[in-house]
Parts: sequence; structure tokens; C-alpha cells
Amino acid sequence: MTVPVNPLREGLRLARTPDPAAVVIFGGSGDLTSRKLMPALYDLAHLRQLPAAFTIIGAARGAMSDEAFRAEMHDAVAAFSRHRPLNEEVWGSFASRLRYVSTGGTGGYDELKHALEASDAEHGTGGNRLFYLATPPAAYAPIVRSLAQGGAARGGGWSRVVVEKPFGRDLASAHALTEALFEVFLEREIFRIDHYLGKETVQNILVHRFANGIFEPLWNRQYVDHVQITVAESLGVEERAGYYEQAGAIRDIVQNHLLQLLTLVAMEPPAAFDADAVREEKVKVLRALRPVAAADVAARTARGQYGAGFVDGDRVLAYRRELGVAPDSETESYAALVCYVDNWRWEGTPFYLRTGKRLPKRATEITVQFRIAPHQVFSREASAGLEPNALVIRVQPEEGISLKIGAKVPVQGVRIRSVNMDFSYGASFVVDSPDAYETLLLDALRGDATLFTRRDEVEQQWSFIDPIVEGWAAGSAPLGTYDAGTWGPVEADLLLARDGRTWRKP
Ligand code: BG6
Repeated sequence: MTVPVNPLREGLRLARTPDPAAVVIFGGSGDLTSRKLMPALYDLAHLRQLPAAFTIIGAARGAMSDEAFRAEMHDAVAAFSRHRPLNEEVWGSFASRLRYVSTGGTGGYDELKHALEASDAEHGTGGNRLFYLATPPAAYAPIVRSLAQGGAARGGGWSRVVVEKPFGRDLASAHALTEALFEVFLEREIFRIDHYLGKETVQNILVHRFANGIFEPLWNRQYVDHVQITVAESLGVEERAGYYEQAGAIRDIVQNHLLQLLTLVAMEPPAAFDADAVREEKVKVLRALRPVAAADVAARTARGQYGAGFVDGDRVLAYRRELGVAPDSETESYAALVCYVDNWRWEGTPFYLRTGKRLPKRATEITVQFRIAPHQVFSREASAGLEPNALVIRVQPEEGISLKIGAKVPVQGVRIRSVNMDFSYGASFVVDSPDAYETLLLDALRGDATLFTRRDEVEQQWSFIDPIVEGWAAGSAPLGTYDAGTWGPVEADLLLARDGRTWRKP
């Protein structure tokens, strides 16, 4: 029997070559452009997924010639593309559509407008514009205003703006940023990036849940004991102390990536896989999140900061000794919390979220732990090695899904041990997963906002996070410490121990 498909769903989020377009990257000389955006665009060109009529304008304040910009991007692509070594033919054609405009001096936005008009005239980009804000956030609103004032925001075709995270630092600033964008763009033209949504395995959460018949009946409070979501990094703060000192783990990862993962695990089935239907269901989850009241901050959250230690055998510095970090910094490099989704499906089921830098390894995974069998047929002795069933979705680094089940050890008599049924992307598919930025850039070019965060989503996320940040500022859940290379502060273990549970080791 073949699996019936819904003909009405055809065409939604299916591969479609985007319209001709000019992409303008603000922050064109920045790190994100070199490490992620330009390599992703090159990789799309390599895969012939970009439209034939296509140009990229790097924009930043400093002066630079087109040639110097191309040379810089050549090195960046050669270092970070998925398709290395660089194919000089593809690069040649790609580079011929690259330009640089300095927006620093007076007349910078006039020059940008002329460059866009030239792109339309010479390359046939049809007045379609994708603006990518990859600058520090303080520049977002001024850029958008200057675009409008200089007459560069629209060129007769469609115009869209992609906004990098962080989108605000609390509810009020996120709201103000959206209002500033609204002076020039409509909500459907605004693409707020959370790059986790572009990861293959993250999208696969929805496929796993809604394309299979066997999981969804179990996916609720009756059968699920609890959910754990971990975003662990072995890296430290790197060269980003200026930003991170102000953000901390709660703003850097919990407010966006972790809450987004939670929505995908907890949401109801959408009627279709399109932007409105999916985001509508996600925002309902965020609205159903039980707020962390001031009195609950200590019981529902934990935070910590790494001290010196060893990661991958190398001695690493304490957070407070890192470049650009205040020696008495109170910024958390680790955060954990207990969430409840107060709705019919999930009432009373804890969702434990944690993230940290300088943990033993890089691992992002979601564990859905099921309740134990209602009646124990086998003796306690036989079942000693049995753990509860758990579905583990490994987002990275080795993408895959495993289901932990009890099996009889092949010896005389009954002895039960937990084993894994494993699916790994690497073993099942020959193609490499695209980078998240490839997926998201292509979606933005196609005008598909399914994997981008809507205004009400981002605001709900901040509404949930703000009281925690305020509670911490008032001294609740004091900052714990952990040695670099360990699994976080003891306070995070206590958070689960109170419920008689432990964190799963990725
Ligand atoms: C970013 C954070 O959003 O995500 C970084 O600002 C973090 O601090 C990064 O390192 C992790 O992304 P990934 O894709 O490597 O898991």
C-alpha cells in the first residue's frame, strides 16, 4: 500500500527556484558574513539552487574596493564552504556578481540605491531585494530607516529583511525593534532568524512526529514521563565577550534555540506545513508556558559559570579570565530550567532545558522519556539493567534518532538490559545535510517564513524569559560554578533531583 499524500499540500515548502534577486548583506565585513553567509550562498550556487539572475552586495561602514571584498570573500569561502576545495569556475561566476558598498560616509545609501539599480539593469534582478542585517543589533533600526530615506528599500519587486539574533534583549526592546522595522516593512516581509530551525534534524522533529503514525498517540502526558532538551557546547566564550557578557546563556541560547526546540516537541499537529499554520501552533505552546513567578525562580532555574578546567585534554581558562570578561563577572555561562506547558496534552509533564559553554562535548539533543511499563512481570533482579524507554533525537553533531528499549540478554533465564534502536543520517543518506544558513537563506529568497520566528513568538519568548532574568538580578538561584569540562553546576543536578530524576548524559 502506498502512503496517501494530501494533494492540497503539494507546493508548500517544496523546492522551488527562487525569483531573481539582489541580496544586500549589512555587516558585510563581519564574522557572520565570512563564516556562514557567504559560504552558504556559494554552496547554494555550487548546487545550482540560486536563480540565474542574482547579485550580492556587501555593505559596511568601512571603505573597500569590490576587488578587495571579492578577495576577502574568496578566502572565507575557501575556508568555510561545504564544497572544498573551491571550484574556481563556480567561484568565478559567483564573484562576478559580488559588489561592495560603503554605507559609512554621507551618500552611502545613495550609492547603495545606485548599486541596486545597476544590479537590476545589468543582471536582471527584477527589483527584488533581500536585505540581511548581520550587524550588531544597535544598528538594525538605523539601517532600516536609512534604507527607506535613501529610497533603496524597494525597487518595484518584492523586498524582505532578514534579522539576525539577538532580536532584542527583553520584551520591551524586541517590541521596539519590531515597531522600527514596521516603519519600512510588513510582518510578512520580516524574517527573524533562529538558525536552529534551519538544521535538518530540527525540521525532522516535525517529520518524525507528523509523518509517522506510531509516535503521536504516545506523545502526551499519559505516556511521556518528562522531556529533556540539552544544548551543550565545549567551546568557551571565544572572542565574543563584549556581546556575551551582556547576554549570558539565558539570552544567548535559552530565549531562542531552546524555546524553539521545545515548541517543536510540544506543539499540536499543524493543519499544513506552511508558515502560518506551523507558527500558529508554536505560539500556542509559548502562550501555554507556565510563567516562572518571582517566588519560583530558585526552584525552577539554575545557573552557573565555568571555572578553569580541561576540555578535550587541553587546559582552559576560567570564564572570568577570558579576554574581555570582567574579573568579577556574574554572567552565567550555563542555565537550566524546568518548564511546564499548561495545556491538555502536557499538563504536569516537566520539560527540563539546559545549555552551557565549556561542557565536556558539543551535543544538542532532545530526550523524550516514557513512563515505565505499568505492571512489572519480570523480577526486580531480572530487570536490574532496564532503563525507561526513551526516544533520543540527536540534533548534532551526529544527527540521528534512537529509541531505547529493553531486551533480553541472550543467556539462560531472563535478564533484561536496555539497548538502542538507531537511525543515523550518515548511515541512511548519502547526501550531506545542508548547513542551516543555506536552508534559511533559500527559504527567505523563496519567501517561505515557516522556519523563521514570527513577531508574537519572539515576544512570547521574551515574556517567559524576562521574569527569570529579573529574578536572577534580584539574587534568586545564586550563580553556581563548575569546572570547565564537566556537566555544569551541582545546582542543575539538584533541579532534577528534587523530582527524583537525573540528566541524561549525551
Ligand atoms: C549562537 C550563539 O546562536 O549559537 C552561540 O550565539 C552558540 O553562542 C551558537 O555558540 C551555537 O550554534 P551551533 O549551530 O554551533 O549549535
